[in-house]
Amino acid sequence: MSRNMRERIIVALDFDRFEVAESLVETLKDAIFYKVGLQAFMKYGPKILKLLKEKKKSVFLDLKFNDIPNTVFWAVKSSMIYDPRFVSIHLSGGREMIKKAVLAAQDSAEMKILGVSVLTSFSDKDLAETGVEMTTDDAVVKLCSLGVESGLDSFVCSPMELKPLRAKFRGQIRLVTPGIRPAWAAKGDQKRVFTPRMAIEAGADYLVIGRPITASKDPNGAFTVILNEITGL
Ligand code: C5P
Repeated sequence: MSRNMRERIIVALDFDRFEVAESLVETLKDAIFYKVGLQAFMKYGPKILKLLKEKKKSVFLDLKFNDIPNTVFWAVKSSMIYDPRFVSIHLSGGREMIKKAVLAAQDSAEMKILGVSVLTSFSDKDLAETGVEMTTDDAVVKLCSLGVESGLDSFVCSPMELKPLRAKFRGQIRLVTPGIRPAWAAKGDQKRVFTPRMAIEAGADYLVIGRPITASKDPNGAFTVILNEITGL
């Protein structure tokens, strides 16, 4: 199987204990891209990131930076000790913050900054309560446009946003999508889900997948079934 397709599945390491995350990385033979988010990072971040680096895995460091431009610049710089391929920021941090993140990442040939627009946990009402008088759909396009204007070419979006963002930005941008559930997997707390095939067909470049793989009795088998589903699309 080509490295290319395997690289499009990013396995979310959302575990409370380092040993469980380590054991999954040992078990999953074909996976080459992992996402480390706040849950894992706060407890055993440096340890798991060092392990992933030693094993030559690609890393999506999903800490969603959102602070003054100077702080985000140095946060991105500091993250370079782990050699992450992707580092996420909140686009609501604004133009200068986005530009500083992009500037900081230029020191690494591999690193890409990923812009997060509106969290899918937000409704139109939640957005209005923060003072944004706009639908979440409009806010997503507006924030991604600001990202592109500020030098970003990569974004995290929900499966529902894939088509509108592809229609607007075409091949100009890279889209990374969570909220994926194979037809055979439990939905868990994910509500509006796409299958891996649907997400790739709608324009996703990378799929972030957690529990369908990590909570499976056979993580290798689950990974392979998903890989087969998207191979050849
Ligand atoms: O286990 P599951 O496949 O639902 O994991 C998806 C991963 O993607 C989790 O790390 C979750 O925090 C993240 N995520 C998400 N939905 C979003 C944004 C991020 O599920 N809208």
